Amino acid sequence: MRFGIKTLDEYDLKGKTVLCRVDMNQPVDKATNTLKSINRIQACVPTIKEMVDKGAKVVLMAHQGSDIEYKNFYTTEPHAKVLTELLGQQVKFIDDVCGPAARKAIADLQEGEILLLDNVRFVSEEQTLFELKLNLSHEEQAQTLMVRKLAPLGDLYVCDAFAAAHRDQPSLCGFEQVMPSAMGRLFEEEYCAVSQVMETPERPCVFVLGGAKISDAFMMMETVLSRGIADKVLTGGLVANILLAAAGEEIGKGSMDFIVKSNYADWIEKAKPLYEQYKDKIVLPCDLAYVEGGERKEAGVGSIPAHAGLVDIGHKASDEYQKIILGAKTVCVNGPMGIFEEEITEYGTKMVWEALAKTEGYTLIGGGDSVTATEKYDLKDQMSYICTAGGALIRFLSGEELPVVKALRHAAKTFA
Ligand code: 3PG
Repeated sequence: MRFGIKTLDEYDLKGKTVLCRVDMNQPVDKATNTLKSINRIQACVPTIKEMVDKGAKVVLMAHQGSDIEYKNFYTTEPHAKVLTELLGQQVKFIDDVCGPAARKAIADLQEGEILLLDNVRFVSEEQTLFELKLNLSHEEQAQTLMVRKLAPLGDLYVCDAFAAAHRDQPSLCGFEQVMPSAMGRLFEEEYCAVSQVMETPERPCVFVLGGAKISDAFMMMETVLSRGIADKVLTGGLVANILLAAAGEEIGKGSMDFIVKSNYADWIEKAKPLYEQYKDKIVLPCDLAYVEGGERKEAGVGSIPAHAGLVDIGHKASDEYQKIILGAKTVCVNGPMGIFEEEITEYGTKMVWEALAKTEGYTLIGGGDSVTATEKYDLKDQMSYICTAGGALIRFLSGEELPVVKALRHAAKTFA
């Protein structure tokens, strides 16, 4: 038992049917029916392999795509092919989630076999946006079709989807209400790594917050500053632009138009008290980059041209951020410094990532864009820990008890 949650060590898996929720959500190339990255699938392998080696019948449940953009929903069939290659063993796939075909395929499984069900979000009661409109309690989630139909077929529920642990959905929180449950090895590892940063960070502890996920970034900033976890917060991307505007600085019409268009204008007001209170810890870029006539230009804060659209931090800010990162003992990163996908606007992100690779401090990288940047600069091996989670990591660092953690703790107290 760790963190009040049971682990795989506590169960004899031989001959048992394990219903295992994983997070293999990846960008998909629909034209070729292939996945653009297989990071998260690779990360699931140790738990699956361990269960197979111990003689379990493994049933995998996963989502692909987010209902925030419905068109992203996609079958998990390509994931079964990738897993088959990674494991060197056939992973069966069934294009059903909890209907008769899925249930028959589960019942037919033999010891050591693996079956992947189709995208759990094809079942309407699993959709994320329901959390906003229809908030099902964990007891109610236990009454959903998926849990009612699948739970009787399993001996144990295992959740290895730390990246989705902030989602309050039946495949994640419903099974724990009705059957013995445990976290998988990836969940255990990621939960342990992020807990360490939260509870006993070596100091100085620096957070690097960039990107465009504004509410997540501010939620995280507020928590790590108010709890005294962060000694410094280095800002970039849209997060920095909003803070600069909150501090009364000119950020250029292009940046402001983008903020308004993205419905983030309210954040300028909301950021003011946070910035006022923690001015000594929040570091704003001292210079920034914009593109004019196809060329990269830079200007110091106070001299940003009125028409500019800011796309990166500047050279001086990059130098300053590098020094701070190199002197840190813990660095937690979420979000790039600018539009790093394009050469002309990648400088700040590249410099910050190079410093992350060089620092002797512990580096925790989280969030899709941050992981993509780490891959782009081929620095994966130089980072201390790359977390598969984005939103879940932010919610965790924001101090909330994640719904899946709550559900797993409930199961640990309720079932042997
Ligand atoms: C993620 O991509 O962060 C996880 O898979 C969770 O996806 P969601 O935000 O669509 O629930």
